[in-house]
Amino acid sequence: MKVAINTGGGDAPGLNAAIRAATLAALKRGWEVLGIKNGYGSIYTDEPFIKLDARAVQGITLQGGTILGTANRGNPFEMPCKKDDGSWGTKDVSDHLVQTFEEHGIDALIAIGGDGSMNIASRLIKKGINIVGVPKTIDNDIYGCDITLGFDTAIDIATEAIDRITTTAESHQRLMVVEVMGRYAGWIALYAGIASSADVVLIPEIPFSYESIVEKIKERESRGRHYTMIVVAEGAKEQDGELVTKGKAVGQEVQLGGIAERVADELSERTGKESRSVVLGHLQRGGSPSTYDRLISLRFGAAAVRCIQERDFNKLVVLQDNKLKRIPITSIANKMKSVSLDSDTVQTARDIGICLGD
Ligand code: F6P
Repeated sequence: MKVAINTGGGDAPGLNAAIRAATLAALKRGWEVLGIKNGYGSIYTDEPFIKLDARAVQGITLQGGTILGTANRGNPFEMPCKKDDGSWGTKDVSDHLVQTFEEHGIDALIAIGGDGSMNIASRLIKKGINIVGVPKTIDNDIYGCDITLGFDTAIDIATEAIDRITTTAESHQRLMVVEVMGRYAGWIALYAGIASSADVVLIPEIPFSYESIVEKIKERESRGRHYTMIVVAEGAKEQDGELVTKGKAVGQEVQLGGIAERVADELSERTGKESRSVVLGHLQRGGSPSTYDRLISLRFGAAAVRCIQERDFNKLVVLQDNKLKRIPITSIANKMKSVSLDSDTVQTARDIGICLGD
């Protein structure tokens, strides 16, 4: 048996642990393992693969990033390429990918990725590639998964950062707006916001109104609390408003960012209070994974190999109700796990007085 491993989309803490567990579990069964370099981005190069042996994965559980490299512009169905006129376009290189797999005798692919990677996987399955998926994204928004690898570390980092910003907000009696990742789902903002005792949490699932935030600020001022901590997901938007974006490169999703600055300016204008904004950005994706992320990544990686051994292909290994399960990859394509507005976590936020902007 020859297995390839791919990491696609944005990196997340725990990717290396998943690669290590999958590699060791495969080697234990006498299989060969190849890592695909840079998502699918190197598929046209002379050396698209790295041989993964025990030495290659030694000591990587605690390392951030991915030893394979990854790419947000590596969709084989829409690979960015320069056209004859010098402009950029995309082309479908999926047949070349399938051919490369055949030439190298690859029997199965472990695709470690987020929603984008699982959409790609669904299409590759139709081209005959045997795939097992491992759910990764700090955004925690993959449908059918209670938790994705990378999320736990991201919320730890965000919580610590918000804690630190809170002390300076209080000293200066400012409004502080902290932007965290979360394109279409507010898991990071909600979890880190509650854990760090933020006063306002704005998530994509609940379009916000400035009136509601100003009311919260005034209520705090009336109690002698002359600072307010606002956590905003990058994908949050005002009621009837638009996503705040920074443009779009060819073959890539639109880049979000800037909502914190906009909210900080608007609130300053409306309250007369001084405000500052901070974007945590890729800090949330970098560095060593938490204990939980190491463990869940190792469990996912090893489970993917057991799935292949049973020839139970085209499944995503997931955690549901604290048990590892398998669900069809095609069943989650183009779906997303949003924060449920009647969940106890949202209720908790409301019960302890956090303003959710509605
Ligand atoms: O999907 C994960 C994510 O962290 C999003 O929250 C964010 O919008 C995106 O990646 C940013 O990716 P990059 O800047 O690396 O392209």
